[in-house]
Formats: sequence, structure tokens, C-alpha cells
Amino acid sequence: MAPTALVVVSHHRPDSLTVHIGDVVAARLKEAGYEIDLLDLRAEGFDPRMTTADQPDWNDRDKAYSPEVRAHMERVLAADVIVPVFPVYWNSPPALLKGWVDRVWNYGFGYGRSRPRLAGKRMLWLGLAGASPDDDFTAWMDETLDRVLREGISHYNGIGEAAVKVLYDVEGEPQHVDEHGNFTKGEALTGAAREAHYAAMDRLAAAHVAAFLGLE
Ligand SMILES: Cc1cc2nc3c(=O)[nH]c(=O)nc-3n(C[C@H](O)[C@H](O)[C@H](O)COP(=O)(O)O)c2cc1C
Repeated sequence: MAPTALVVVSHHRPDSLTVHIGDVVAARLKEAGYEIDLLDLRAEGFDPRMTTADQPDWNDRDKAYSPEVRAHMERVLAADVIVPVFPVYWNSPPALLKGWVDRVWNYGFGYGRSRPRLAGKRMLWLGLAGASPDDDFTAWMDETLDRVLREGISHYNGIGEAAVKVLYDVEGEPQHVDEHGNFTKGEALTGAAREAHYAAMDRLAAAHVAAFLGLE
């Protein structure tokens, strides 16, 4: 049986770059032999707000969570590889993705068992960021994402093989904010340069997937 990849796309606009990169990632995984489960959180109407039904009960790790969350848990369980694709908002995943983790990666399912149920799965977090690789704060943004996503979420849920990759400069125009909050914008890419920039981004997204799978 072919291995399964769960691609979790988190964006409020269907025509966003994030959704497009989600498709690129899914195509690369498919090419590598994976069955794709594409979870577009907006298209499926996922509500990221925590509910009483899905709040952990620390005295009951077998709590029956809501049917919606249980269906998401089944999709996570069925996956060999999990790839969330998301825009970086304030050095974090956006609320839509954060809420999916809050509600679905729950006590007794993702963590709280003597033997983790998600052990053996692999997870690649792929963020899209407006920042440039050489921006002053990019190094700590990357460190923060790595700490929170790879260690704080993947490892905490028993997924040892996890990585965070970021596609930078996704706006195609440099933006800079200094330590006093003064904002300046550089020249936006146009025409062929813009086309080339986004084609390179597609290739980089596919290359991150291939490298994570050990294909390059
Ligand atoms: C609310 C908000 C917060 C953002 N915070 C960051 C940030 O902390 N670091 C960064 O590099 N880019 C940040 N950005 C830029 C987004 O990462 C970028 O606009 C997005 O990835 C573009 O993808 P899209 O076209 O699919 O929306 C932010 C954008 C928004 C709207």
C-alpha cells in the first residue's frame, strides 16, 4: 500500500500563494509515490476556536472529543508524513493552523500516552514569510518557529523526525522595519523578474519536500 501524506493548507484565500505552494507540495509528494490527503482548513470550514467538547480533561485521556475533531484525528493517524503549509504571521503559524493543532493534537491522542500514537510519523512544517533571509530578525524568527513547531509540537507529540523550512521574500518586495518601528518599502519585483522569483519559489518548495524525504 502506498504511504499517505497529509498536506494541511492554512489560508483564508483560495487564490493565495500559500494554497498554490500547498498544491506544489502535494504534487511533489505524489510524484514520490504518496497518496495525498489534502486538508484545506478554510475550504473544509474548520473553526480554529477551542470548544468545551474539545478541551482536554486531564482526568480522562480517553475523552471522546467532538465528531469533527475525531475525524481529523483519523486523518492524522492515517498519515505517514504530515506537511502543514502556512503563512508566517507574527513569527508564528496563523490562527487557523494553530487552532487545528489546539483542537486536534489533543491530550490522550497526540500526547499523554506512555507510548505515543504518532511515533514513527514524519512532519515537515513549511512556512511562507515576507522576511528576507538577511533581515535582522530572520534568524530568531527561524529559531522561534523551530522551537515552537518542531520541538514544542512535533517532538512533544512523539514525532522525532520533524523539520521546519521557510520560504522567504514571498511578497516579492523588500520591507524593512527598524527598532523604532519605522517602516520602509523597496522596489517591488515586476514582469519577468517577478515570474522568475515565483518559479524559483515553486522549485524550492518541491526541493524542501524532496530533501526531507531523503530523495536529494
Ligand atoms: C498578520 C500578518 C502577520 C505577518 N507576520 C509576518 C512575520 O512575522 N514575519 C514575516 O516574515 N512575514 C510576516 N507576514 C507576511 C506573510 O508571511 C506573507 O504575507 C504571507 O506568507 C504571504 O503568503 P500569501 O500570499 O499566501 O498570503 C505577515 C503577514 C500578515 C498578514
